[in-house]
Amino acid sequence: MSPLTYIRFDLSKGLSGWPPPVLDPAGPYSREITTLAWALFAMGVVVTMLVALAVAVALFGDARAKKRLGGEKLIWVGGVIAPVVVLSSLLVWGLSLTAHQTRPPTGDEQRIRISGEMWWWRVTYLDDQGRELFHDANEIHIAAGRPILLELTSADVIHSFWVPRLVGKLDMVPGRVNQLSFTADAPGTYGGQCAEYCGGPHALMGFMVVAHEPDKLQEVLAAKAEAARPPATPEAMRGEAVFADNGCGACHAVRGTSANGLAGPDLTHVAARMSLGAGILPNNRGTLAGWVANSQDIKPGNRMPPYQQLSGADLLAISAYLEGLK
Ligand code: CUA
Repeated sequence: MSPLTYIRFDLSKGLSGWPPPVLDPAGPYSREITTLAWALFAMGVVVTMLVALAVAVALFGDARAKKRLGGEKLIWVGGVIAPVVVLSSLLVWGLSLTAHQTRPPTGDEQRIRISGEMWWWRVTYLDDQGRELFHDANEIHIAAGRPILLELTSADVIHSFWVPRLVGKLDMVPGRVNQLSFTADAPGTYGGQCAEYCGGPHALMGFMVVAHEPDKLQEVLAAKAEAARPPATPEAMRGEAVFADNGCGACHAVRGTSANGLAGPDLTHVAARMSLGAGILPNNRGTLAGWVANSQDIKPGNRMPPYQQLSGADLLAISAYLEGLK
């Protein structure tokens, strides 16, 4: 197993919801897609078996059977009428099954804008009028049972948003906003993954959708909307200075401080997230220090430069600071 595969494999033990199973729906939208997938698969099995049977007759059947198989009637029935009937009825049924998935929004949805970026997810929570509330990254907190409306876009190349247990894939296209609706049946953590090749670390572009009870969601979002906590220990205070001295704030925002960069993920509440590096590492002090020291070893090609010039003490300080950003 390659190191990257191993990291991803190892992560599945540390993070709930990862890797996401693709045939285990947890909401009405994905349930319909799963039903459709099984129906298409079953139809494919039936047709394959009929063809195999015809081949067997052609090879091993007696002369009379072979003659009937080669008759004009069978060509018309098996080669024209049956495919038209079967494929048309599957098409009509499939479209009607999933028709409401593209119905226009009603205005009751929880609205969130997600922008695919090379190679992470910018998450912007919106109010009912669609105004921006605050930014977060790589984790999407929603209310279970409530319709969700995502506004999907991209900052650079085409990405594809996919949460297998909740909803089908939808492309994120630069300069466009694609709307995606879905509902999660119950609270839980649902893994997601970029499903369109978007450059080097595409396979390491994951995220989490966390569905909460509505009251709990209000709490979670209220905490995320707050400015960052000031560092609580001398080491974390030193870490904040190391963070500032190394220019981290040019790419990352920490609300309530002078760090206001927009190129990379917002770090205001980085320690509250389940994963680091867009769904690829568990989030703890060790992985924070390792990521800062050289994220290129972990996620080759990502846009954060290595900081190998930092001393061990500085790395520990900076990770103490980041770990306090809950
Ligand atoms: Cu983003 Cu693949």
